Amino acid sequence: MVVDRIGMFPGSFDPVTLGHLDILGRSLHLFDRMIVAVAEAGHKQTLFPLEERVEMLRESLSAEQSALVEVTPFRGLLVDFARQRRVHGVIRGLRFVSDFEYEFQMVLMNQRLAPDVDTIFLMPTAQYTFLNASLVKEVARNGGSVEGLVPPGVIRRLKARFG
Ligand code: PNS
Repeated sequence: MVVDRIGMFPGSFDPVTLGHLDILGRSLHLFDRMIVAVAEAGHKQTLFPLEERVEMLRESLSAEQSALVEVTPFRGLLVDFARQRRVHGVIRGLRFVSDFEYEFQMVLMNQRLAPDVDTIFLMPTAQYTFLNASLVKEVARNGGSVEGLVPPGVIRRLKARFG
């Protein structure tokens, strides 16, 4: 019996950026199918509500990706959701050394909670290494262009929010 390899890409996606989509594309080279797990809120106050963050991701996928990628919200611990969905690995993007400390802490905690759930780090293409969702929101809030950094649907929603 051939079993599909399933990966999980968790995050806040507030909002999804082209950097996230780059990581998702790379994940699909490693896994047969991907679950993009959108976290309820965690410790962060989000700009977009959970449903809208999920929607923005769904509408950003190509037809080919949509067949292989499930975008779903999750509540509670990531490792519990990963176990529940029987994923073979968790994907996170890593850009700079500055990301490392936060990611390392999370991995160690997740390993303690669930030693069987492994995290794999992927690096985005160089043009997106500087990009993060907080910067996108800050630029958009102050009237700057985020063209080429986020999908068109996100640009539309940011304009609706900030004018
Ligand atoms: O995109 P983000 O905000 O860096 O993603 C962080 C996220 C959602 C992956 C992380 O906060 C998370 O896993 N939240 C779910 C709750 C949980 O399991 N927390 C313990 C992590 S050590």
